[in-house]
Amino acid sequence: MAHPLPDNRRLPASTPMYYKHHIFFCLNQRSNGENCCAQHDAQQAFDHCKAQVKAKGLAGPGQVRVNKAGCLDRCAGGPVAVVYPEGVWYSYVDRQDIDEIVESHLRDGKVVERLLTPPHLGR
Ligand code: FES
Repeated sequence: MAHPLPDNRRLPASTPMYYKHHIFFCLNQRSNGENCCAQHDAQQAFDHCKAQVKAKGLAGPGQVRVNKAGCLDRCAGGPVAVVYPEGVWYSYVDRQDIDEIVESHLRDGKVVERLLTPPHLGR
């Protein structure tokens, strides 16, 4: 018999999170010439983020995981990355932006306000 979800569908407060922060980078490439995150060096940003998280000893269970994603449907704000469980969206430009996300948000838990994706930007 399946266990029912709680009414609010949230996990019990005592459930440990496997990752403290889980960041997904859109790496989507469009072949039709339409705007996409891959046109804005998303792969290099992803690689840099992964390397920095590892170098700073932040990678692994209970800490940080950096993952690739397909289109996150916020292309107009691209290149984008999103951090869960907070659901904080970032629009970055260069390696310095990635460094700031790693050090401020992923390491210290402080959102980088200047890099937040404007809330109205979707596809
Ligand atoms: S192509 Fe990156 S969010 Fe759509």
